[in-house]
Order: sequence, then structure tokens, then C-alpha cells
Amino acid sequence: MAEIEKLPLSSPDIKTGQIEKLKSLFPEAFTEGGKLDFDRLRASLGDAVDDGPERFGLSWPGKRDCFRLIQEPSTGTLLPSPEESLNWDTTQNLFLEADNLEALKLLQKSYYGKVKMIYIDPPYNTGKDFIYPDRYAENLRTYLAYTGQANDEGYRFTTNPDTDGRFHSRWLNMMYPRLFLAKNLLRDDGVIFVSIDDNEVINLRAMMNEVFGEENFVASFIWKRRQNVDSRSKNGASTDHEYLICYGKTPSGVLKGAEKDLTKYSNPDDDPKGDWMSADMTGLATKDQRPNLHYDLEDPSTKIVYPCPPTGWRYEKKRMSTLIENKEIIFPKTVEGRPRRKKFLKDLQSDFTGFSTVLNTVFNTQATRELRSLFDDKEYFDFPKPWELLALVFKTVVDEDDLILDFFSGSSTTAHAVLDLNKTDGGNRRFILVQLPEPVEENSEAAKAGYRSIADIGKERIRRVIARIEAEAKDLAQKISATLATLAALAEEEKTLRASLPPQLFSDAALPKELTKLIEKQQKAHEELEQAQEQLERIRQGDLGFRVFRLGESNFKTWDGDLEREDLTKQLELALDYIRPGSTEQAMLCELLLKSGFTLTTPVGRLTLAGKTVWSVDGGSMLVCLERPLTQEVTRAMAAMQPPRVVVLDEGFKDNDPLKTNAVQVMRSHGVEDFRTV
Ligand SMILES: C[S@@+](CC[C@H](N)C(=O)[O-])C[C@H]1O[C@@H](n2cnc3c(N)ncnc32)[C@H](O)[C@@H]1O
Repeated sequence: MAEIEKLPLSSPDIKTGQIEKLKSLFPEAFTEGGKLDFDRLRASLGDAVDDGPERFGLSWPGKRDCFRLIQEPSTGTLLPSPEESLNWDTTQNLFLEADNLEALKLLQKSYYGKVKMIYIDPPYNTGKDFIYPDRYAENLRTYLAYTGQANDEGYRFTTNPDTDGRFHSRWLNMMYPRLFLAKNLLRDDGVIFVSIDDNEVINLRAMMNEVFGEENFVASFIWKRRQNVDSRSKNGASTDHEYLICYGKTPSGVLKGAEKDLTKYSNPDDDPKGDWMSADMTGLATKDQRPNLHYDLEDPSTKIVYPCPPTGWRYEKKRMSTLIENKEIIFPKTVEGRPRRKKFLKDLQSDFTGFSTVLNTVFNTQATRELRSLFDDKEYFDFPKPWELLALVFKTVVDEDDLILDFFSGSSTTAHAVLDLNKTDGGNRRFILVQLPEPVEENSEAAKAGYRSIADIGKERIRRVIARIEAEAKDLAQKISATLATLAALAEEEKTLRASLPPQLFSDAALPKELTKLIEKQQKAHEELEQAQEQLERIRQGDLGFRVFRLGESNFKTWDGDLEREDLTKQLELALDYIRPGSTEQAMLCELLLKSGFTLTTPVGRLTLAGKTVWSVDGGSMLVCLERPLTQEVTRAMAAMQPPRVVVLDEGFKDNDPLKTNAVQVMRSHGVEDFRTV
């Protein structure tokens, strides 16, 4: 009987990927059996190998286990939750309710190298926050128990108290695998920002040096979060700041900088060279250092002689004469003033200047206010970040249609920042958020309002931000129709007024006052109309929706190789019913997308071929048929479309080996290279 290759249902095996990379770089270091020979590798690398007994680097108890955790594939999946989503059919934004380690593993294939920017705000390890207890083979089960999916209760994880002897190690063990996996998702020109405070900043820097490479360090930003000093501080120091640590994936992951303030440019004297601003042109050197830059400067038209500044001028005499000839020097009216230079907008090399590592314009009180204003003046979430701070940082990295990932998303500030940025500049940036359904505190305001978890608050925030933007769009649309009506009425008024006026004798004669006023009114209304239309257009260009997925067990019961013998018979019985009860067709499709390397928002079309439903993924790059049983006609019809990949359910061939053999042959004869079952 013909065998069809199975589609792998667990997340990609990271170790194999790494070995393949090594193999391509050092083929000489591998033995015939494909195993790595360390001695050969060492010989290839020569002096670059550091094998002394003492090495520089970060080490902590449990570091070795981090690699086991990274290598253990996830057997779970991301289950669609359309009822919690908004504009499912059109959106590219994602909210994943999940443990982020499992989520990062599941995203490895489909989102490898696709993310331009990662922003995370992980627990700071203050002694009060909990640290997720990762377990290698058990991670999904731990999560299912935690979320009450494995038993009815659900349970809470305890906090990581600073009296614990492994306080820092626990935090590092949690962060290391996540950063390692997240790095794979970044584009080569991608950038990561991590919020942190003094509790772990030293360890974070050391860990990021190892994961991202010291050479890819971009900057350590200081965010002045507190506006007024803390008078309650115990040691006399008011710690008013925290950090944002930034690394690129490769040296090409750099920032754009901060946008220059172009409002300083104007053209008050109608200079044919366009808008300009006045710029200082005093030099930086003493007379001894640069004698040629030290001279008195004469205005040739007024003959006023301006004395040389103590540090001289920026240009020597010849260049200065050219600038004077070109009318690019502004001479003050009196000798006390200092001549300046016209700096033209057209000569700007770039619209960006350096992005200061001190962020001191947005404070944390703003964040609480923002959230309160969205949630009926209630405080549902402690310590959110202000969205304007994130928007400021995002602007220095992302272009208008880039993808941003936040896998410790809390109250969804990242989504808020993305949505609002898009609204202001008409961009189409997209987000992926990951948030654990961490239960809200019992008796908290959030619990009283019916929110069960932080993920629930995060999802609701996105809905409310979108609703607010949509309400703005509605107001703008109303304003546009009202202004159009006003303009029509004003035009009518003008017509009547003109008809009542005596004929004008000269075309340049002054218009009557009433008419001038009317024309001014029309101009103003026109400007308002244009502004509103542009604003509405910008809102319409943004992605105002999000798809929700939840981490859960695979729709297809996978073989659990780790099970004890007595469970084996149970497994075999279960395997007879291969599809998990309650699995929907949409859930199965989404899982097949993810596990075949398509993003979770890839367009999927429905076809009817030989009376059966067939799903066409990404305009026919993959055909999926989930029908049971399959027929010869449908396999033939799919093959005839010659897609690169076809996936069907193994159950579709149940008790019909000739059908399977025939399907394999038909696919092969039509050149379908990749024919798989699940
Ligand atoms: C400091 S908060 C982020 C706050 C966020 N920046 C904001 O402005 O709302 C960190 C969040 O990470 C979540 N978290 C912790 N461990 C996680 C895990 N393993 N997977 C996903 N989320 C996790 C916590 O529930 C918490 O809401």
C-alpha cells in the first residue's frame, strides 16, 4: 500500500535547524553518520576557540535546562476564537491568549524572520510578580491545568519571592528561552526593545549580549517615568527612571532616529530656494587653532562690520563670500547682533536626527489616565505603560506596514500604540500580542466588573480603542457631509450676492466687504473639509480589527511517545478517533496553516470540487480537504489544479487502501510534489 508522508504537527525542531546551519558552514566538522565531531570543529576554528578553564560569561543554575526547554517542540496549537475577534475576515492583527513560550514555538515556522520589531515589558522580578513555571515535556499540560482546561479548577502560580535562594536564576530561566526563540522571528533588520528596571537590568544586558551578540547592542534608553520625586524613598534616592534595552538582530538592525522638527522652516522672504531656517554659524576653534576662521565680517550692502566671535566662524573667508553673494547670510540690523546663515530645507540630508537615549516627555501617570478613560474611569490593570511612550519608540523603528510583536502584552498597550499611530499617519502597521490568561485578583475592580483574566482586559482594551477610532471616523464623516452642505449654501449665497451687486468696472477693484467675507468663509470651510477628508482617509487605511487565538491541544491527536506502558492501550483506543471531539473545520484549517508555515491570517478560499469542500490557501499554494470519506473524483480534481501542496485527512482513506494508492499516483502524475496527510 502506498504511504503518504504525514504533516509534522509539532513545532519545528530548533536543534535540527541549528545543526543544519552548522553543517552548511562547517561540513568538514561532521562525521559520515552526520554527527558533529567537536575536535574537527575546533581544528577548523583554530585560535578562535576559547577552551581555557576560566571563561567570561553569564552562568546560573538551570541554564543548561534552558536549552532543553528551547529544543522541546510544542505539540499544542492555536485555536481560533472568532466570537472574541473583530473584523476577522479583513484583519492581520493577532491576539494570542497563551503562555508565550508555547506561542513562540508555534510561531517559529510561519513567522520566521517576519517581525520588524519586538517590544516586551516582562515581569521585572520585584519579588511580587509570579514567574511562569516552565516544564519541558509537560509545558502544554501545565498550561492546560493552569487555565482550567485540564481540570475544572485551574490553579494559580505562586510569586517569586526575593527571599528565595534562586530568585535571579528563576527569572533568567524564564527569560532566556523566550528571548532565544523570539530572535528567530525578527527580520535581519529587526530590532528588540525590552523594558526593565534596576532589579534585573544587569542580568538582562548580560543575557542579551549572549543571545543577540554584544556587537548588536544598540542602546540603553532611560525612561524618566516619574515626574515628581518620590518623597517616601527609604534610602534617600528617588528612582525616577527605568530602562528600555535595545538590540538589533544583526548589525543592520538600527534605528531611524527621531523625526526632525520641520516646522522651524518657512519662507518669509519668498526665497526662490524654498523654505529655510536661520542657523548659527559661529565656529568651535580658538584663533591659535584655526586662524583662517577668525576675521571680522562686513555686510557689503550696509557696510556694518560685525566683530569675530571668540571661537571664530564656521567658514573661511572664501566660502563666506560665496554665501554672501548667494544671499544666504542674514545680517542683523545693528552691530551688536550676530550674522546667521540660511539653512534650506532642500539641503537636508535626512528627515531624521539622533533619537535621544533619554526619554523624558511621557510619564507613567499618563498610562493610568489613558486606561481609566477607556474603562469607565476604573483601574483594572496595575502598571501599564503609556501608549505614547511606545508610539515614540515604535516610530523610530517601524515603517508604515511593519509587524510588531509583544509577547508580554498585559493590558495591550502595544496594540493601542499601533492603532493610534496608524490613525495619525495613515500607516498599516500590524501587531501580534501574546498574553497569559493570568487570573485577575479576587475582589479586584476588574473581577467585580466580570473580567476573569488579564487577557480578557487586554482584548477588551483593543475593542474599545477600535470603537473609539470608529466613532471618530463617524464624526468625521458627519462633519464632511455638514461642511459640504455649508459649502453648497455659501456658493448659493455668493451667487445671489453677486447678482445683486452693480457690474464691476475694473477687474482689480476692491470687492465689497460682504463678498470678501463670504469668500473667506468658503476658503475656511474648504480647508476644514480637506483636513477632515484626509483624517478620515488615514483612519480607513489602518487595520481596525484583530483575530483572537487561544493555546490549546492539537485538533489531531498526536502520538505521545513519553507515555507509560499502561497508557499505551488507552492511546491506541484514542487514535481510532483521530480528530479531537469538538474540533471545528475552521480550527483544523488554522492548525494546518500554522503547521505548514502559512501565517494565521493567510487568505483561505472555499471551493467545491467534485461535490466536496476544498480549501484553497493563499490563492492555491496549498489545497486542503477535510472531508471524510474522500473520493477518487475529489483527489483527481485537486491534483488537476496542480497546487504545490495538498493536505487531506488520513481518516478520509479509512478502510480504502486502493483509494489511497490511487491518490498518490494521481498527485504524482500531475506533478504535485508535496502530498501529505494528517
Ligand atoms: C509588566 S506586564 C506588561 C504590561 C504591558 N506592557 C502594559 O502596558 O499593559 C507583564 C505581563 O506579562 C504577562 N506574562 C507573564 N508571564 C507570561 C507568560 N509566560 N506568557 C504570557 N504572558 C505572560 C503577565 O500576565 C503580565 O500581564
